[in-house]
Amino acid sequence: MICVGERCDARGRARQKLCEIESALATRFNAALANGDIKISTRDCLRLCTTAPVIRLEPSGDVYAGIEINELLIEINKTLAGERS
Ligand code: FES
Repeated sequence: MICVGERCDARGRARQKLCEIESALATRFNAALANGDIKISTRDCLRLCTTAPVIRLEPSGDVYAGIEINELLIEINKTLAGERS
């Protein structure tokens, strides 16, 4: 879940990050996206405003601000592995 609210999307940073995430997930986790194991959603504000886009992973609820795509993919991979074990 990525916040595209006014503060997180200052200068279009959140929507740029959303595009990067969509592209990276389609490349790395295409099957998981297709079968619904991964879903990308947006929110207008997660009430954790920072100067970087805020991203929340579910079901853990872990929150990241300014996370790099590669780091996010690692966290998503860990989440998927945890759900399947
Ligand atoms: S605008 Fe993104 S958390 Fe508030």
